[in-house]
Amino acid sequence: MCGNGPWDSLLEREVTLTKKKELTKNLFVLSFESQDPFPGIQPGQFVMLRTSLGMDPLLGRPFAVCGTGESRLELLVAVAGRGTRILCSLPERERLVLRGPLGNGFPPQPGKRVYCLAGTTGIAPFLLARQQTPKIHVHLGIPGRGWGGLATWAAERIPGLCVYSEDSSVGIGGTPLACIDQLEPLNDVVWACGPTGMLKAVQTACERRKIPCWISLETRMACGIGGCHGCVVRTVAGLRKTCTDGPVFDSREVLWND
Ligand SMILES: Cc1cc2nc3c(=O)[nH]c(=O)nc-3n(C[C@H](O)[C@H](O)[C@H](O)COP(=O)(O)OP(=O)(O)OC[C@H]3O[C@@H](n4cnc5c(N)ncnc54)[C@H](O)[C@@H]3O)c2cc1C
Ligand code: FES
Repeated sequence: MCGNGPWDSLLEREVTLTKKKELTKNLFVLSFESQDPFPGIQPGQFVMLRTSLGMDPLLGRPFAVCGTGESRLELLVAVAGRGTRILCSLPERERLVLRGPLGNGFPPQPGKRVYCLAGTTGIAPFLLARQQTPKIHVHLGIPGRGWGGLATWAAERIPGLCVYSEDSSVGIGGTPLACIDQLEPLNDVVWACGPTGMLKAVQTACERRKIPCWISLETRMACGIGGCHGCVVRTVAGLRKTCTDGPVFDSREVLWND
């Protein structure tokens, strides 16, 4: 299989888990090697990764890409349920199957200052963005000291990273939303990734200040390639699929599902 054609992202490829690093309890950085190179990956694009070589669990799980080399891929994975628990308990050298990169990433913003606001594992696409565009500003929010390992690891990769914690135990007390008040509508753009509650708050704050804002949605996904309608979200343009129309949307378009 060759990694350069337009259809390669839709094909499944075998990868080997080459390195597993535990950052905190239930949070891992997983590195994979493929025999063939990956096509260029935009920050915000994701892969659908099967969590075992067998048929159970049957469906892949979506993960944003947080780092790449030519045939190397890095994911930041938090244990959320059965699939991620199986994935994070696999030994190094295990072989798995993934499809990707999929979806649309954050759009380039020539001439603008980009402020990336992340909630916990929402930092993943911004680690890749920083690898590609050193000038972006990254703000990470965590609940508290329990996530300190993520903050330390991310700060090693993103010099100047601003860390906020809700309980004030790490970095600045509060959340990354605090930085929105300092931004200028004509010069600045916000990219956000994290839990839905945080994205709604970022959407509201940016709308109030007329700051352009792009958000990466985390809906449940079954296929990742537009075939199952499992990931639809309400938008001003009607129902859209998070996997193929997103996961990154202009925040003004998103109406949410509740
Ligand atoms: C585009 C995209 C990028 C993502 N990137 C990352 C990432 O970089 N790192 C990471 O750790 N996780 C990421 N996720 C979330 C990850 O896909 C889910 O945590 C995972 O699918 C859960 O699988 P599971 O079998 O362990 O949990 P399940 O047993 O399927 O579910 C456990 C819990 O997680 C919730 N859940 C399941 N799927 C999702 C989902 N897609 N989004 C939010 N909550 C979900 C369920 O409602 C349930 O409460 C991403 C999701 C999307 C859509
Ligand atoms: S996950 Fe199947 S259509 Fe989006």
